[in-house]
Amino acid sequence: MNESSTTPFLAACRGEPVPYTPVWFMRQAGRSLPEYRAIRAGIPMLEACRQPDLICEITLQPVRRHKVDAAILFSDIVVPLAAAGVDVDIKPGVGPVVADPVRDRAAVAKLPHLYADSVSFVAEAVELLVKELGGTPLIGFAGAPFTLASYLVEGGPSRTHAKTKALMYSAPDVWHALCERLAEITSSFLNIQIGAGASAVQLFDSWAGALSEADYRHYVLPHSTNVLEGLPAGVPRIHFGVGTGELLGAMAEAGADVLGVDWRTPLSAAAARVPGKPLQGNLDPCVLFAPDDVIDLEVRRVLAEGRTAPGHVFNLGHGVLPETEPDRITRVVELVHEHSRRSAAE
Ligand code: CP3
Repeated sequence: MNESSTTPFLAACRGEPVPYTPVWFMRQAGRSLPEYRAIRAGIPMLEACRQPDLICEITLQPVRRHKVDAAILFSDIVVPLAAAGVDVDIKPGVGPVVADPVRDRAAVAKLPHLYADSVSFVAEAVELLVKELGGTPLIGFAGAPFTLASYLVEGGPSRTHAKTKALMYSAPDVWHALCERLAEITSSFLNIQIGAGASAVQLFDSWAGALSEADYRHYVLPHSTNVLEGLPAGVPRIHFGVGTGELLGAMAEAGADVLGVDWRTPLSAAAARVPGKPLQGNLDPCVLFAPDDVIDLEVRRVLAEGRTAPGHVFNLGHGVLPETEPDRITRVVELVHEHSRRSAAE
């Protein structure tokens, strides 16, 4: 057991009692923070993700400022793809863009493998962070096969995922071969972070909510299961997607310990769908643009709904929006701690 095994964040992930509800935010490191914009000035995203000192500093910024209960490694879901040799870049205001989209068997066969040497900068950053963070847990992360496949097949961000689904339906063998390769890359990337000292991991299947449950089960679940089941026991596995209210049961079956929920599904409804599973979420990121009294009310609502689950990690329902006022984020941390301490004492 390491030092951080008793923190509220890890206890909540395991459904154990907590003195207060732990809180962190997806995209807590990023453009909402002036200190992030300053340190990133002139450095392209993927280049920043390759520098251990910079990764370390950017990861620590929101922990220092907001006093959140967990850090999340500063990286991106396409970092392992780029490190393995896929020609992918992150365009500001757009997202990941892939030079040669992967749409047939030959392209799948050409996908490179990920070797630990290619992402030594990540292991180095995690080791530095574990020292710097003291007792605060570090969350490692990766993109799940479907979400990564969508960027590779579409060539960039997509609203409908039409080309991805077209490949899935018309060439299922190519689709499964692609997802197998991606599961292998994702699994290596997560294992490297855990090996270097990450206390928990989050598998982002951000865009899986675009699928019906039947398609999710047929085309995606086996691959996400391979990723999650291939991780060492004892490290909590959080699994999250946007608009996945209908998929929560299936995503739990993939081997998640904690289910991330977006703002559309009340945590009490989610708890009923995945009995026995701790939940993470789910304040609407836009509530951070609301007046103080509305923020307070919404935080209390999410906490109350979260109490219906065996464990609750407070978070947003998706990432912090870049226009968010940092003081609002800090305020939410204080409110979550204050209100949940009070109800724990009752
Ligand atoms: O603080 C954290 O949460 C850790 C950092 C993190 C980033 N990307 C940094 C980042 C995490 C967890 C991610 C994951 C990620 N990347 C996901 C899954 C999470 C989600 O949002 O659903 C996805 C789909 C991506 C792909 C991606 N990368 C997008 C859609 C974008 C935004 C493009 C833009 O400019 O609006 C990126 C770029 C990115 N990743 C930024 C950051 C801080 C912004 C780049 C910048 O600051 O210049």
